[in-house]
Amino acid sequence: MRRPIVAGNWKMHGTRSENARLIEEIASRYPADPAAECIVCPPFVYLHDVSRLLRDTAILLGAQDVCADTQGAFTGEISAAMLKDVGCQYVIVGHSERRLLYRESDQLVARKFAAAHAKALVPILCVGEQLADRETGRTREVIARQLDAVLELCGPQTLASAVIAYEPVWAIGTGRNATPDQAQEVHAFIRTRIAAQDATIAAVTRILYGGSVKAGNAAELFAMPDVDGGLIGGASLKADEFLAILAAAGSR
Ligand code: PGA
Repeated sequence: MRRPIVAGNWKMHGTRSENARLIEEIASRYPADPAAECIVCPPFVYLHDVSRLLRDTAILLGAQDVCADTQGAFTGEISAAMLKDVGCQYVIVGHSERRLLYRESDQLVARKFAAAHAKALVPILCVGEQLADRETGRTREVIARQLDAVLELCGPQTLASAVIAYEPVWAIGTGRNATPDQAQEVHAFIRTRIAAQDATIAAVTRILYGGSVKAGNAAELFAMPDVDGGLIGGASLKADEFLAILAAAGSR
């Protein structure tokens, strides 16, 4: 019922020629009618280029961030309408690197979610605890706070056209992934919390796991009942790894 998604977050990597090579390698081996949905999220400046490269493929385009405001004097910012204009269907909001390095609050992330939703871009809402939160037993509290900010501002219905990504901060780029059981526990918590407001929407909302997913651990993570695919950083830059992760999601 929930079609798996594998989304590649390229972060601040790539050049025009590297991007072209990567897309060519992925697209040439990615089926036209795939079991898992594939999204790539390049840096802003490459979105238009990559959107052309993806023409005639089944791969979808996402951005890594969006401005909470619609237009105006916001130097350096990119609006949801602009992302639509260059071919994006998805946008990551609230990635932990944005929350931690650029001090994005839960409220700002919720406004970004709303801005994306208003322009019919599908937000990929990232939530996740830091190591100290986990070690002090505050994981659920942190996830609840991050999720509730969006539920309060936008309402549970908006999740019908959104994706959630659970990304424990201690697992991102560290090579130390959450165990399948740890991921499942938080994913089930997220789904239950949404269900408390709308059970139908909770049942269809796709919840991705992110944090050191690679070819070698994807299948066991995706085998968990509430893990509907992955948000992939480092491994999304290597065609073989990314394709193997896509295959694991497709055979879920
Ligand atoms: P990683 O990053 O796969 O390199 O751990 C995941 C992410 O930040 O989305």
